[in-house]
Amino acid sequence: MFTHEDLSKLQAQSLRMQGFIRQQTYSPEREKTLRRFSSWEVAELIFKVNQSTLRGRLAADPTLPQGYVEEDGRQRWYSLEEINEIRRRLKVSRKSLMPPRPTGKRAIRAAIANFKGGAGKSTVALHFAHAAALDGYRVLCVDFDPQATLSHSMGLTDVAEEYTVWGIMARDLVQETERMNSAARGAESGTALPQRRLPASITGMGLSDLRDADFIKPTNWPTIDLIPSCANAAFVEFASAQYRHLNPEWSFFAAVRRYLDHLPADAYDLVIFDCPPAIGYQSMNAVFAADVLYIPSGPGYWEYDSTTSFIGQLAEALEDLSAFSGPVPAGTGSPEKAFQDIRFLLTRFEPGNDLHRAMRSAFEKVFGERLATHPIEMTRAVEQSGRFLASIYETDYRDMTRETWRRARSSFDQAYEEFRTHMLAAWENLEDEA
Ligand SMILES: Nc1ncnc2c1ncn2[C@@H]1O[C@H](COP(=O)(O)OP(=O)(O)OP(=O)(O)O)[C@@H](O)[C@H]1O
Ligand SMILES: [Mg+2]
Repeated sequence: MFTHEDLSKLQAQSLRMQGFIRQQTYSPEREKTLRRFSSWEVAELIFKVNQSTLRGRLAADPTLPQGYVEEDGRQRWYSLEEINEIRRRLKVSRKSLMPPRPTGKRAIRAAIANFKGGAGKSTVALHFAHAAALDGYRVLCVDFDPQATLSHSMGLTDVAEEYTVWGIMARDLVQETERMNSAARGAESGTALPQRRLPASITGMGLSDLRDADFIKPTNWPTIDLIPSCANAAFVEFASAQYRHLNPEWSFFAAVRRYLDHLPADAYDLVIFDCPPAIGYQSMNAVFAADVLYIPSGPGYWEYDSTTSFIGQLAEALEDLSAFSGPVPAGTGSPEKAFQDIRFLLTRFEPGNDLHRAMRSAFEKVFGERLATHPIEMTRAVEQSGRFLASIYETDYRDMTRETWRRARSSFDQAYEEFRTHMLAAWENLEDEA
């Protein structure tokens, strides 16, 4: 017979191993560091200019970053900071190397969501974040999943739950309840609105003292920040149900959106949400804050099946929210949710697999242009690098055969390029910041 005590013992054993695995995965200091990029990568894969043109231009101006030459090598290797400085200062054929950003808009927000476990959400979120950062964008990632795959992949392992989405939601409850109470006090009509009281277990946590920036952590990429998650944040689902009961007028689903709306409009370009494999309080916050919904799905029949039920349940959940009876907070607009774009993206696709090809045609028939044209292919490189909690962009191409690396990279590059096109179109459609 086994009880919770046996489970606890097994967990303690497993935790001891976890430390060892992390040490193997990151540097000996257990810090994840970002590699440098070769002049070949910088020219052809990042700036998409001719390699000798770039070399010539860099040689002509010694004040530009000159990279680092390895002892026995001829290649120069550049840090992302150096790449971004070159990007800001250099024009090639009179063209800026800066990525496009519509003026007067806040950052665009994309949720990677599907309640099917293992659909490739975290892999897609990680790779799109890295591809966008190499493209010159400033990225904020939000990990909505207490499994914390994205947080771990980005090198954040010691996270306290008040600094997760749960903290943002609980702080929002305190702030919103205060706001409603003072509005009720200020109301001049004779019918005083009831004052809501929150228990000391919530008001006493010091959440109101947290500033917006306290939730945002730097990662091993200089232009990617992260609002991390951790296993303890799993209880958010229980806690949120209780919170709704404490203040039924609290629009719990808009907490993260209010938080993001509060950040300076030009702090980031792209915000990427990695969602948990569930429809719950956290994923509803992600969906409600998102401008664009990206739904990854594996190419199997069961995955098609569960993607279908995911969109059905999401539709129902969003319909329920639109019937939300509480007062609509300023700036939140109507709780009727409208996305700028919705796309499906096939992942772990094997072009030589007949079943995968048949499923792809089925997805195409059903979803038409909502299906991204470039699936993400199943690659050994990603399988391998995923095991080391790294993206293909972080993996040095000299660590595997160049062909394996290139194939994986070009699959993600193509999917990212397509995502970028849709994202830019959606971005243009966002309302101008006041
Ligand atoms: N294109 C790919 N090629 C090879 N392996 C992949 C690919 N995409 C994902 N994987 C592997 O599949 C597994 C599941 O992927 P991932 O963690 O991204 O899914 P998920 O949808 O985030 O899962 P969860 O629902 O648990 O959050 C991982 O081990 C990952 O390395
Ligand atoms: Mg995941």
